[in-house]
Amino acid sequence: MSTHSPAQLPDLPAFFTAHYYETITSTNDVAKDKARAGAPAGNLIVAGEQRAGRGRTGREWTSKPGNLYMSLLLRPPGHAGEVAQISFLAAQALSDAILQIAPNLEPQHKWPNDVLIGGAKISGILLESAARAGGGVEWLVLGMGVNVAHHPQDAGQSTTSLHTLGIRKSTPHSLLAALAPRLLHWLDVWQQQGFAPLRMAWLQRAQKLNEQIRVRVGGEEFVATFRDLDGNGNLIVELPDGSMRSIAAGEIFLPHN
Ligand code: BTN
Repeated sequence: MSTHSPAQLPDLPAFFTAHYYETITSTNDVAKDKARAGAPAGNLIVAGEQRAGRGRTGREWTSKPGNLYMSLLLRPPGHAGEVAQISFLAAQALSDAILQIAPNLEPQHKWPNDVLIGGAKISGILLESAARAGGGVEWLVLGMGVNVAHHPQDAGQSTTSLHTLGIRKSTPHSLLAALAPRLLHWLDVWQQQGFAPLRMAWLQRAQKLNEQIRVRVGGEEFVATFRDLDGNGNLIVELPDGSMRSIAAGEIFLPHN
């Protein structure tokens, strides 16, 4: 692991205490170590590249130089179900930041926390947390990887990057400068007003709202119409027989991927 080089980072709002590493195993792992050592919320780990970047469900997250790799340590109040709403918050903040950098793009949200442009995935979000005895979470690490200069080929999903989309001047640095204030904004809104405003904002950029999607929940897979997001962040779908079903955890697929 190389030493910290704050010069590699843009100016960030006072909430953030940023640490930059040229190369690292995984920003999430370093943020988790800091969490366990008692570091406060706002600690932000940023890396130029990761040697062991991780995605959801244990998948590898290819992490060559040129993209943004970051993990933010949070100590949110609330129970684990509420805290999971931070993944919507991260997607919303990222799509805000992308629009700030490139107002011509149309980022869209795919449940639960992907950001897509033109139907292709541009980022990944990985939340990891430790439970507090008696309820709630002790800490939560919000890991975000955003494809700036390149994007990995993923057999199961089309992918893209800001450079592929023509935003060639963007860098991990410029993206972080736009993203950090949006994260802080939505954290404030969420902590003061709860999930409702975030839910409304997220839905405005939701892909396939009122359209057919394929849903996978555990071993089960079915086609349904995406109708809503409930007040907890569950996906609400309408089944072919007209009944509604609420999905707390699962994956959705769009017709073209
Ligand atoms: C996904 O599978 O979509 C989530 C990918 C999350 C990748 C980011 S990159 C920064 C942070 N460090 C990691 O090892 N993973 C997350």
